Amino acid sequence: MPSLKHAVVAGGLGVIGRNLVTHLSTQSDWKVTGLSRRRPDFETSAAFLSVDLTDAAATRDTSATLKDVTHVFYAAYQEHADPGRQVDVNLTMLRNLVESLDETSPHLKRVVLYEGAKYYGAHLGAFPTPAIESDPRQMPPLFYYDQEDWLRAKAATRSWDMVVLRPDVVCGFAIGNPMNLSMVIAVYAAISKELGLPLRFPGTPDCYNRLAQVTDASQLAAGSQWAADHAAAGEAYNLTNGDLFRWHTIWKQVAAYFGMELGAPMTISLTEMMADKGPVWDRIVEKHGLVTVPFEKIAAWGFGDFIFRCDWDVISSTTKIRQAGFHPCVDSQAMFIRLFDEFRNRKIIP
Ligand SMILES: NC(=O)c1ccc[n+]([C@@H]2O[C@H](COP(=O)([O-])OP(=O)(O)OC[C@H]3O[C@@H](n4cnc5c(N)ncnc54)[C@H](OP(=O)(O)O)[C@@H]3O)[C@@H](O)[C@H]2O)c1
Repeated sequence: MPSLKHAVVAGGLGVIGRNLVTHLSTQSDWKVTGLSRRRPDFETSAAFLSVDLTDAAATRDTSATLKDVTHVFYAAYQEHADPGRQVDVNLTMLRNLVESLDETSPHLKRVVLYEGAKYYGAHLGAFPTPAIESDPRQMPPLFYYDQEDWLRAKAATRSWDMVVLRPDVVCGFAIGNPMNLSMVIAVYAAISKELGLPLRFPGTPDCYNRLAQVTDASQLAAGSQWAADHAAAGEAYNLTNGDLFRWHTIWKQVAAYFGMELGAPMTISLTEMMADKGPVWDRIVEKHGLVTVPFEKIAAWGFGDFIFRCDWDVISSTTKIRQAGFHPCVDSQAMFIRLFDEFRNRKIIP
């Protein structure tokens, strides 16, 4: 058995992965290897390997250099407009990695897979809440189902096991990823302010007053470490901040943070309305001496449109993970402020 636990974090530059890499790198009993196609753009003591997980041969070659992996945290993700294609590519990446590490790392102990509230149908419409892990699935296709089924079947024939974590709306720092709500809110607020507008919730009035939840990427990183060491094999766990809020309380706080007046909600398509705001963003970057990030990478407007049009409560029960021993909780209002402070310190937002 290796003396250190060796984590491979697939998708080590994503909003989940990079926060997990950072967290595990501070733990004395873990060695960390991040995988992604790009190289890391941040300081880390973790090793990073560049690999395209859709390429089976390249993934095998990379895995062959890793002989002492004990844990895989699978947070790689590719978005596709076509749900069928999304299933194919995401299942292929998971299979390529797990099958090759299964061959090369004899001490593999556990694979942690990330899913989300879409498992319960959060993307389809109102679903039974609070969602509990044993709730029946919704109508496929959904790549979470295919990934989980394949991994569960594979683990059943091997000496290693698997655990599923179901966060929701992960909030943390990452650039260029398709799902990062805290960046959407911060950049939208900065653009509204630059244009002399009050801060208006861009979603539906119904969503503004619904109960919602998020998962702090740091909370997820701590929960992932717990899942690796303590979760029961084969189980799925919801993992959120553990509190609930209504968007109107958060937007009031966002307006105060950016020194803006709070307007009434006005439903707009962020995807459409932000499409021509590149020059406004360039002006903000120059005025405030911000780090230059291409406008198309700074915020995932489509994700904002999806989250802010959920005219139904989005609530996952966290009873199971708390009873199993993971107790930390996060004040979501304080989390948004902490993240905006972090984005400011990184000179990403004014
Ligand atoms: N973000 C959320 O709010 C949220 C909420 C609930 C559940 N989830 C789930 O959690 C999982 C991870 O989501 P995320 O938001 O952290 O993803 P993300 O931020 O988009 O990150 C995806 C990661 O995968 C890597 N990747 C993509 N294609 C790759 C390839 N072909 N080969 C190697 N690496 C590849 C990306 O790096 P490169 O581009 O450099 O390769 C990046 O590091 C997904 O299943 C998602 O559905 C996310």
